[in-house]
Amino acid sequence: MKIRNMEFLISAVKPDQYPEEPLPEIAFAGRSNVGKSSMINMLLNRRNFARTSSTPGKTQTINFYEMDHAFRFVDLPGYGYAKVSKVQHESWGGIMNTYLKGRENLLEIIQLVDIRHEPTEQDQEMYKWILDAGFSGIIIATKSDKLKSSQIQKQISIIRKKLNAGGSIIIPISASNRVNKYKVWDLFNEIFEENGYDIKLERQDGTK
Ligand code: GTP
Ligand code: MG
Repeated sequence: MKIRNMEFLISAVKPDQYPEEPLPEIAFAGRSNVGKSSMINMLLNRRNFARTSSTPGKTQTINFYEMDHAFRFVDLPGYGYAKVSKVQHESWGGIMNTYLKGRENLLEIIQLVDIRHEPTEQDQEMYKWILDAGFSGIIIATKSDKLKSSQIQKQISIIRKKLNAGGSIIIPISASNRVNKYKVWDLFNEIFEENGYDIKLERQDGTK
């Protein structure tokens, strides 16, 4: 399929605001500012569809985006922003737990980390939570344009080690340069297929 219709559904903080119809969802977790919203924009060839923040820590809601009434991307609230108060942090935990625990149509939670930095303790906690919850533990390493290509594999090894990610998939991407966009789509196609959904995004010629 080629995506013809994409729609921002809602910024939700509680379950009664979640979209009801049980379409398959793929969610993105990661530190505030890691590039979750930018990746969604890259995947959909849009500039400001998923709102990117110049103010880190701003997206404290669960944002649902729906494609062709077939599947959804879920932009989870970022964590790890230093200026967030304890109360805000607790509310973040509550919002995340409620969504992640009770969502039957959630196929995968993908962990995003900044390729330049060693994963933080919160990244480790999030990743462990993802594995414990039974998801595959796929990692996307963002902002690869900030590194020389010779450094990329080295950073991926550091991320793998620090997150204890074993043989899990780690894909480096650059939303700025649109690098590995189709690697990510291929991965999503596999996730849909594995879960029995007939959703397959077509690759256009000549793109990375
Ligand atoms: P929260 O919504 O606060 O959780 O952040 P987020 O994870 O959605 O990050 P967002 O996509 O808003 O990006 C944060 C900043 O990083 C923005 O200034 C982006 O322009 C920048 N950024 C995102 N992806 C890339 C990338 O691939 N390369 C570079 N150089 N900058 C990027
Ligand atoms: Mg965001």
